[in-house]
Amino acid sequence: MPRILDGAVIAAEIKQEVAAEVKQLAAQGVRPGLAAVLVGSVPASQIYVRSKVQTCEDLGIYSELITPPDTVTTEEMFELVAKLNDRDDIDGILIQLPLPAQVDAKALLDAISPAKDVDGFHPVNAGRLQAGRPALAPCTPAGIIEILKRSNLPIAGQHAVVVGRSDLVGKPAAMLLLHQNATVTICHTKTRDLGAMTRQADILVAAIGRPGFITPEMVKPGATIIDVGINRLNTRAEFDRFFAGNARREATFAKRGSTIVGDVDPKAFEMAGAYTPVPGGVGLLTVAMLMANTVHAAKMRRGL
Ligand code: GUN
Repeated sequence: MPRILDGAVIAAEIKQEVAAEVKQLAAQGVRPGLAAVLVGSVPASQIYVRSKVQTCEDLGIYSELITPPDTVTTEEMFELVAKLNDRDDIDGILIQLPLPAQVDAKALLDAISPAKDVDGFHPVNAGRLQAGRPALAPCTPAGIIEILKRSNLPIAGQHAVVVGRSDLVGKPAAMLLLHQNATVTICHTKTRDLGAMTRQADILVAAIGRPGFITPEMVKPGATIIDVGINRLNTRAEFDRFFAGNARREATFAKRGSTIVGDVDPKAFEMAGAYTPVPGGVGLLTVAMLMANTVHAAKMRRGL
């Protein structure tokens, strides 16, 4: 039986450590603060941001939820970011993605002060990360490293194959794995014979954004699989493709009319030595690492 890497347990451990740091900072008169910006009413984004704000509250981090309407302009967003950059009580600025089409998301993320870029999306932080300098690293990739380390799974010398080359997950995950001395291969939509690549993986990171994309024959028996995907299945046919006969999932689907699957076909997990489930895996680490980054940013900005 493969080992299930429980994101909730690891996230709880990290949050406990962050809460202890927040307490120490309070003794020095410092309270880390996060501004979470949620534009419009994308249901998934609302859930994510609510969880981020709630977690701040749980850990003693000051948080502020800012909710511009989905008609907001790039110009108005620039003004908001400029104000947050200038505020001394705000250490981290999080702009939840995706943004409405009329907002120039890249230009906006570039306008966030790199010192407050707790998502690690600013090119300055991406550059620092790749150059091996102290940086705010993107939360999901940082969470992947925490899962591996805290589960005592080796990284150094392992062949890590990252499927997906996004700026937000694939690329920074590959960089962080490289810094941990893994041998790293990055695969993408144009990779020839993808299965031949993924079958070499001791650590397989699936960050593609397609439901159940990694199938059992793509996995080396005993590999560690990190599933970054969060894909909603809305139809019966989609549901049956992955979860036919699964009573627990059947109950969720009956109640909500949908369920979640990662980028890994659940049957492929049976090949693994260890894997992160969806839900309950990497996603929970993203929030925990955001908290860690906010405290880190608060300390760095004050030279602590
Ligand atoms: N949308 C989906 N994931 C993320 C994330 O980690 N950060 C932000 N800002 N937006 C997201």
